[in-house]
Amino acid sequence: MAKRIDISGLNAYYGSFLAIEDISMTVEPRSVTAFIGPSGCGKSTFLRTLNRMHEVTPGGRVEGKVMLDDEDLYGAGIDPVSVRREIGMVFQRPNPFPTMSVYDNVAAGLRLNGKYKKSELDDVVEKSLKGANLWNEVKDRLNKPGSGLSGGQQQRLCIARAIAVEPKVLLMDEPCSALDPISTLAIEDLIGELKEQFTIVIVTHNMQQAARVSDRTAFFNLAAVGQPGRLIEIDDTERIFANPSVQATEDYISGRFG
Ligand SMILES: Nc1ncnc2c1ncn2[C@@H]1O[C@H](COP(=O)(O)OP(=O)(O)O)[C@@H](O)[C@H]1O
Ligand SMILES: [Mg+2]
Repeated sequence: MAKRIDISGLNAYYGSFLAIEDISMTVEPRSVTAFIGPSGCGKSTFLRTLNRMHEVTPGGRVEGKVMLDDEDLYGAGIDPVSVRREIGMVFQRPNPFPTMSVYDNVAAGLRLNGKYKKSELDDVVEKSLKGANLWNEVKDRLNKPGSGLSGGQQQRLCIARAIAVEPKVLLMDEPCSALDPISTLAIEDLIGELKEQFTIVIVTHNMQQAARVSDRTAFFNLAAVGQPGRLIEIDDTERIFANPSVQATEDYISGRFG
């Protein structure tokens, strides 16, 4: 199958500290890939290299190659802002723009991209909120502040905001870790629906979540604190959980880690 993302020989640094080393993997379109591994092994760092957010951190530097379809994301002349439009991000803590209405939160990315008629914006806002399974809950309060929603609703609002600009890829960094169990299940259901249209990469510390939502799972580990994180193995999720190739993966998923 054609790959949506193809990463090779990727290193990421904070100043002189090598945080992740020599990562190569591919991600298939319209699939969910889960990143698992102990805290500090570089999952978030790696995720942020995929849409050129790592370099926003002072000292943040990347070596290696990330291809999105035929586009070399670290190639000469590539605008990081356009990369972030094609590869959206959803964070651990829901972060709607606090002073903006529900409507304006979803419309924000489009407004940055250019001029739209009110009717066009209305359509995209409705479609995106429906796509994020939030429309029915907010359609009567579109002009109220996004920050007035519950945590789970705010996270779905952030997903609506991310999909409004029709990215190819959605990156999610522990998107449920600040949510209650019911809101978590709502997001997991949503991920299952979104993968029909988008390619999704999710970091999760929750093994059951990785098993429930993902098609492929990548296990990362580090030899010791201060050592770089590495990709240990990536495989079909069923395989990783039933019969991983590497002992360290088995130890981690069975809770025998550390
Ligand atoms: N802004 C930063 N500056 C310096 N070091 C960082 C920064 N963010 C993360 N690190 C370090 O990079 C390593 C990987 O961190 P991170 O990507 O957050 O891991 P994970 O998401 O797997 O918990 C850790 O050693 C962490 O301390
Ligand atoms: Mg992290």
